[in-house]
Amino acid sequence: MVARAYARWAPVYDLVFGATFARGRGASVAAAERIGGRILEVGVGTGISLPSYAPGNRICGIDISEPMLRRAQERVIAQRLAHVDLLAVMDAQRLAFPDGYFNVVVAQYVITAVPDPEATLDEFARVTAAGGEIILVNHIGAERGPRRLFERCFSPLARRLGWRPEFSWARLQRWVDGAPGIAVIERVPMPPLGQFSLIRFGKAAARDAAAAAAAVAVGTPVAGAGAIAAGAGTMAPDC
Ligand SMILES: C[S@@+](CC[C@H](N)C(=O)[O-])C[C@H]1O[C@@H](n2cnc3c(N)ncnc32)[C@H](O)[C@@H]1O
Repeated sequence: MVARAYARWAPVYDLVFGATFARGRGASVAAAERIGGRILEVGVGTGISLPSYAPGNRICGIDISEPMLRRAQERVIAQRLAHVDLLAVMDAQRLAFPDGYFNVVVAQYVITAVPDPEATLDEFARVTAAGGEIILVNHIGAERGPRRLFERCFSPLARRLGWRPEFSWARLQRWVDGAPGIAVIERVPMPPLGQFSLIRFGKAAARDAAAAAAAVAVGTPVAGAGAIAAGAGTMAPDC
């Protein structure tokens, strides 16, 4: 259903959603580049962010919608984006990459469009290298007040795009709480009107993850367990 919806949106997507989501995209690309290296952009769509990555990174983009990806491919060719190694039709819930393959996984306006966000986040965590980051930018539903009421009313229209306006921060927090070696680094409100958030999750460096696992095994807390190591794994020349 989502793939069908985006097949219809593909020809006009940049016109309708280009500017509205631009600040969030820019912020997530800037955050990804602070780590750099091998970057996976999930739900890359028309590839609207691809020109923003510095050429020193190696980018792979995947999307469930072939018509959206075709636009991305046209952009890569027209703008000679040599840092884009791969564009592939793929389901975010079943990524065909080995464990720890990417330094950064970026998902802009995607996590509420997939049928199973938690399984998708598990996949993101699996393909992220120790010391790497998962960077989301997404609408996060209000927990109370007039915005919550508005979002409930807007829900039927949003669902046609595969979105869930009521998707709450509590749901992401529950996922992190159950995800070994993953911690929230930051959550920053994004325009328009702050109802979007930039969210950075870090995957503990191998040393910290081992300490955390050992602590769980003996039932004692470990200082620094779940802390985020700076930097990332080795960069490889291609996807
Ligand atoms: C709102 S668009 C965002 C596109 C782009 N990231 C942007 O910033 O404009 C959501 C994208 O996620 C893709 N998508 C939805 N479900 C997906 C899935 N299960 N696996 C991969 N991509 C998916 C859609 O095809 C669409 O291109």
